[in-house]
Amino acid sequence: MKAYHDIPKDPWFQSWKHSLQFVSNTTDFFDNQLLKHGQIFRCQLFGYEYVRTKDADITAKLYKNSQDLVSTANGWAPVFEGVFPNGLLLKDGKHHLVHRRIMQQAFNKKAMLVYFDCIKKWADDVADDLKSKQNVDFFKYIKDKTLDLSLTMFLGISSKDELGQGVAKSFVAMVASTVAIVRKPMFNNCYHRGIKARAHLMGVFLELVKQRRNNPGDDLISFLCTATDEENQAYSDEQIVDHIIFTMMAAHDTTASSLSSFMVQITEHSQWQQTLHQEALQFRDPNYEQLNAMSVAEHVYKETLRVMPPIVTVPRVLNTPTDMFGFSIPAGTRTGVYIYGAHHDPKYWTNPHIFDPKRFERGEDKNHAFCYIPFGGGVHKCIGMHLGLMEAKLVIQAIFSKLEVERVDPQAQIKYAKVPIWHPKGKFELRFKSVS
Ligand code: HEM
Repeated sequence: MKAYHDIPKDPWFQSWKHSLQFVSNTTDFFDNQLLKHGQIFRCQLFGYEYVRTKDADITAKLYKNSQDLVSTANGWAPVFEGVFPNGLLLKDGKHHLVHRRIMQQAFNKKAMLVYFDCIKKWADDVADDLKSKQNVDFFKYIKDKTLDLSLTMFLGISSKDELGQGVAKSFVAMVASTVAIVRKPMFNNCYHRGIKARAHLMGVFLELVKQRRNNPGDDLISFLCTATDEENQAYSDEQIVDHIIFTMMAAHDTTASSLSSFMVQITEHSQWQQTLHQEALQFRDPNYEQLNAMSVAEHVYKETLRVMPPIVTVPRVLNTPTDMFGFSIPAGTRTGVYIYGAHHDPKYWTNPHIFDPKRFERGEDKNHAFCYIPFGGGVHKCIGMHLGLMEAKLVIQAIFSKLEVERVDPQAQIKYAKVPIWHPKGKFELRFKSVS
């Protein structure tokens, strides 16, 4: 077995730049390191040393997590601990399992049918609204809209009233604080505003939980109030509030990112608009069962998630020693899964840098159990995956049944930030027109 310290890494005078390179272009940073050092390397990110690879078999080992090989909670703690402390990603092992089983009840078929109606109405409103607009800065636009949807679907409140507006404002401050460089609350800095926003939301949400326990509605809070696992374990009021806050965060930016990237791809490969339009007309007023048959929307959306995954990489910390490529890696080492790397590995994908939705017809995503992982894998695999796909299909159907889209400035190069989620830096302006 080779020693840990023999894993290649940049000399110290280059590695101090790693965090900046990671933030400035995460995928270029990882890809360049892999090119330079081979299949495994060490790097310095935000004061921690990481061992990284994109190898699908090591990804499988980390996700399968047999005998609690890794901690997901310790991996995410530096990002979420202060402001989103008790969500599912901050739990490991049995503790995670108990909470996940209860949460699963809020995503069963009965709940999904309720969300379906809510999303369908929202998607139709979005399409009508886009029709009435001139130019739209799409990422910003869809972020606001997906937050509106979260307020209705998760909390049963509206962004139009005072309560909804206050919640939206606090929520935005909390999300912003997850990427604050200074991670101590002081002088009303970004992190401090996040902590204060959390305290405000805790109070508002606890009140909502009390109301929904007495008078349940059709929303995630109400479902979590009655959800139990097989052993009849249920969440306390405080636990519901923590899960709601975390789930809103996990759902909101990722979905907005994916829909914005979808528009990037569909305006670059506009031949797909016609095919999407035809499918959208075929399912003019779709019901829940018909979602599975919307294969064009599904393949174009899935290919978008492959090429531009909203979450490019996820962190883990080793609980026990293991080996990677014959190197002995000690417990406590920080590592992770490189989702973008798995999605572009030529071992599993033909022409991985080409946008080709038909690869899902050919089943390329099945070439390795962990080569297509936009929603992660193993016990922490995204609990909202089906909800996210449903949301995407319904809004794609609503938009492309009546509208076509083009870039306001087709020559403009779009720059992206890829952490914490993949999104355009600056404006991404689109023009929607009725289909002629
Ligand atoms: C395109 C949309 C989405 C993408 C790409 C996405 C991606 C992911 C990924 C990669 C993970 C795993 C993180 C890890 O392993 O460390 C995850 C977990 C999670 N996601 Fe999503 N997600 C999306 C939508 C949603 C939605 C709509 C919801 C909620 C309704 C949601 C709720 C969650 C939660 C609660 C977890 C933690 C699960 C656990 O730890 O057991 N996500 N998501």
